[in-house]
Amino acid sequence: MRLRLFLMVSTALVVTTLAAQDMPVLTPKPGPAPKINGPRIYGARPGHDFIYRIPCTGVRPMRFSVSKLPPSLKLDTATGIITGKVPVKIGSYEVTFKAVNKAGTATRPFKLVVGDTLALTPPMGWNDWYTYRNQITDKLMREAADLMIKSGMADYGYQYVNIDDCWMVKPDDPDPELGGNPRDASGDILPNKRFPDMKGLTAYIHAKGLRAGIYTGPGPLTCAGYEASYRHEESDARRFAAWGFDFLKYDWCSYRQVARDNSLEERRRPYDLMGRIVRTLDRDVIFNLCQYGMSDVWKWGAETGGQCWRTTGDVGNMRRNRLPGFYEAGLINARLADYAGPGRWNDPDYLIIGYAGRPRQREGPPTKVALSADEQYSYMSMWSLMAAPLFFSGAMNMLDEFTLNVLCNAEVIDVNQDALGKQAKILRQSDDELLLVKPLEDGSKAVGLFNLGAAPRKMSVSREELMMAGPLRVRDVWRQRELDGVTEEYSPRVASHGVAFVRIWNKK
Ligand code: GLA
Repeated sequence: MRLRLFLMVSTALVVTTLAAQDMPVLTPKPGPAPKINGPRIYGARPGHDFIYRIPCTGVRPMRFSVSKLPPSLKLDTATGIITGKVPVKIGSYEVTFKAVNKAGTATRPFKLVVGDTLALTPPMGWNDWYTYRNQITDKLMREAADLMIKSGMADYGYQYVNIDDCWMVKPDDPDPELGGNPRDASGDILPNKRFPDMKGLTAYIHAKGLRAGIYTGPGPLTCAGYEASYRHEESDARRFAAWGFDFLKYDWCSYRQVARDNSLEERRRPYDLMGRIVRTLDRDVIFNLCQYGMSDVWKWGAETGGQCWRTTGDVGNMRRNRLPGFYEAGLINARLADYAGPGRWNDPDYLIIGYAGRPRQREGPPTKVALSADEQYSYMSMWSLMAAPLFFSGAMNMLDEFTLNVLCNAEVIDVNQDALGKQAKILRQSDDELLLVKPLEDGSKAVGLFNLGAAPRKMSVSREELMMAGPLRVRDVWRQRELDGVTEEYSPRVASHGVAFVRIWNKK
């Protein structure tokens, strides 16, 4: 008995140590002093409700202040949550956030741009799809909001807590929780019994300084066969706004039965319609087109009123030769750099890292994703460089140290959220390698050297290729460390399916 116990304990120890070696944590731990993260520029529409929680690491309690905060907005100095109304006067409001705790002080400029453009930087948050699918409930959404704060993700700028498919009624489902009448007598859409109080749910999310997202589609049914918005577009959108949602994913799916053909006109029609409605709502609602890239949606998604559009099929169902699916989505998306910019982002789908539900399976507990540590760093680096919306879709209640280290590196997120709003361009690509370069607002460039091959390889990028004038200053973004002595050419050895992610300045 005693021996067996000892064996069990020692096996557990070995397993933990091995796992730690396999999954190295690169992101340095944040210090005790405050450090303010998140976007430096933020779009909002005049007179609308505003909610923003200043993302900040460091020990609590902390005291926040904001210089020159417009009088229609109010700050909770203990939580750093700003609420109130967006000023009615169009223009830029340049404020400075400040946070103080017993270990120090931090400040960070923040420009609130009041006008018509939302999502001046890519939206960040969590979407339940790859963890819960048709198991999603109000309780799990609230738990996710709790965990976004508790895990520290919100301290890095994760903000939206989004429900995907399966919150509505599934008309013919025998399960009394799901089936029944999908609309009330006046035609208003009803949630299923797992969502007893939609307004209460968004209020719960908003009370934490976070924003809430919802999902429907232009067809009669969603992809999972639940009630969708065909012929109810206007009333559904108004209902979502009245419930308090801040983000709408609009998923094509059964609209294929409605569309007359595959023409651009038919493909655009439902998005033009919903985009027009969303623009007239009295809330700032991000409009996320989900039609998997058909008819080059990146060319017209913004004209419909969309702030982001899926450029690919579902990342959870993809494969590329011997490579995991995120490379397939990433490589399609990487070619579309010219179409991205502030308020208009290419969306290669969610971040499925850490633990998540199994892609093709509807039920069952989350399991560890089949990606190596190098692959998970590559995934996050690619999404960061491509200015992709950063939506984690894994299990919030199974976030371990490794997964959080991938999701929450302030310098990786700074590249993604950079105010210039450029998507990285492909500098070089072959079967074995991909080099992405993203110009940043301060004149520096973020560079990702991705090894797509099966063996480690030496990779390189030179000053000439980057078209940078003087000697270089190079910083390792994951490790947050200067690479002294690299001034002309950066030539790291990169593990198979790994990445070297650096930020490069001209040396002063
Ligand atoms: C489609 C979308 C996914 C998800 C599911 C829900 O497959 O692309 O992101 O929303 O529908 O059924």
